Amino acid sequence: MKFKILIFLSFIQIFQAQFTNINIVKEIHSKDKGMVVSAHPLASEAGAKILKMGGNAFDAAIATQFALAVVYPQAGNIGGGGFLVGTTNKGEKFALDYRETAPIKASKDMYLDEKGNANTDLSQNGRLAVGVPGSISGMFYTHKKFGKLPMSALIQPAIDLAEKGFAVTLREANLLNSTKEDFLKHNSHKTAFTKDIPWKQGDLLIQKELANTLKAIQKNGEKGFYEGKNAQFLVDEMKKGNGIISLEDLKNYKTRERKVLSFDYKGNEIISMPLPSSGGPLLAQMLKMASYENLEKYEQNSPEALQIMVEAERRAYADRAEYMGDPDFIEDKTQMLISDEYLKNRWKNFSFEKATPSADVGNIISQPKESEQTTHISIIDKFGNAASITTTLNGLYGSKVVVKGGGYFLNNEMDDFSVKPGVPNMFGAVGGEANSIVPNKRMLSSMTPTIVLKNGKPYIVVGTPGGTTIPTSVFQSIVNAIDFKLSPNFVINAPKFHHQWLPEVIYTEKNFPQHTIKVLEQKNYKFENRNVIGRTEMIFLDENGNAIAVADGRGDDSVAVE
Ligand code: DON
Repeated sequence: MKFKILIFLSFIQIFQAQFTNINIVKEIHSKDKGMVVSAHPLASEAGAKILKMGGNAFDAAIATQFALAVVYPQAGNIGGGGFLVGTTNKGEKFALDYRETAPIKASKDMYLDEKGNANTDLSQNGRLAVGVPGSISGMFYTHKKFGKLPMSALIQPAIDLAEKGFAVTLREANLLNSTKEDFLKHNSHKTAFTKDIPWKQGDLLIQKELANTLKAIQKNGEKGFYEGKNAQFLVDEMKKGNGIISLEDLKNYKTRERKVLSFDYKGNEIISMPLPSSGGPLLAQMLKMASYENLEKYEQNSPEALQIMVEAERRAYADRAEYMGDPDFIEDKTQMLISDEYLKNRWKNFSFEKATPSADVGNIISQPKESEQTTHISIIDKFGNAASITTTLNGLYGSKVVVKGGGYFLNNEMDDFSVKPGVPNMFGAVGGEANSIVPNKRMLSSMTPTIVLKNGKPYIVVGTPGGTTIPTSVFQSIVNAIDFKLSPNFVINAPKFHHQWLPEVIYTEKNFPQHTIKVLEQKNYKFENRNVIGRTEMIFLDENGNAIAVADGRGDDSVAVE
């Protein structure tokens, strides 16, 4: 593989030696071997172990997700939901949607007070914020369709980690400490996540209740979660506060198989998640609009490249707010929105002279606030299959509610609905009717698990967390690789930016080139610093089976090979 290496950033060693018993690996080159990249070394190792046992990418995807639910409780989950985009060695392409749904008792105005004001605390924290979890259903669906090894083997690494415990990383210890008050506020029972003295790196986190839940799932299948004792635990948890999820909600939950969103980008086929994720549609819109200005002519993060990409983001995110939602409840306008006919027209008012005002590309109802855990897994196996999975509780540790008896966090995904037209969610995203709350409807997502195919074979497997910054991060990863031909490490670790129509601000990571910022400030663009944007997990492959897997340098993310 040949790459133009602009700068070599040695993120590889930075986070190593930080642990007592955990080894973080940032980049692995291999040939004809399976690899897993995830947010936590123990989860990547759990997936790689399954590959070593002869499992395929989908088996490894399941084992890694279960392990993340234990070792990465801030976002890994069984109480949340996710999407899997996959390709098989037989050429099948598929998208699994195990997104949470609005409970039967949900209603459009459920987060509005008597005066009609939105109370986003309720959509973001505590029991009323919880959508019906989809992750367990999604993993069983994946297994039924594509699994090779028995499900019980795929759950076992997670059970061991929960039962015996594992050493927390410095990052996780800090997060557990800084969220302690919220855990105490939302849980009257003792959970595994709080202690009398602060967590420190290397402390053992043991989760006995979670181990029991996982054993019940191992024994009884998905019914071990959606019915019987565990379902009752969840419903009892709801009743302790203002929660509305019922036994019927849990019993009725179903994974949906969607048609992948597929489009051509410079001779490569990109497949990504369709609605109810805005991820794939936005990615298609942004890449196509950027190609109208021949983005590859410019340097990465140069003023010209930034301007083209930001203006593509502005137009795409305005469409997100207006048109996107669960396709089972609204008309799916994706094919129109990603057509060249529509996008070329949308691009007409682009000018290198100055910023396009956001009001010129969409209907602004009100100014959103700005704010910001989700996690991504990229996997390939030696058989030629690839899996790209993004899974989430939404916010950090979701609703902060831990199911008593179940030992796991519940999501706060209801906040991804538009609780009121023009009122921003926790990521500053606004929406309207297309994403309003209706019982059983899925809330609009930004998660963008993606696979790029070259000559029909996986070439790039990519995705990231980051709320509304997800599609723009994946956009950057793809152009960094395809247009700017950067080295794999730099593709994901180069300083990032993000724009989302509203607010009219470009967010940049702190090491973003100041020259570019200065040039664009002259053209009416406003910039704000953001600590980190996303955590991308990426695998590159060539036609001879050579692969490079890279884990984002911004976290404890780590690669494992079979
Ligand atoms: O589905 C979505 O778009 C959000 N719930 C994802 C949240 C997320 O990525 C948070 N991570 N930082």
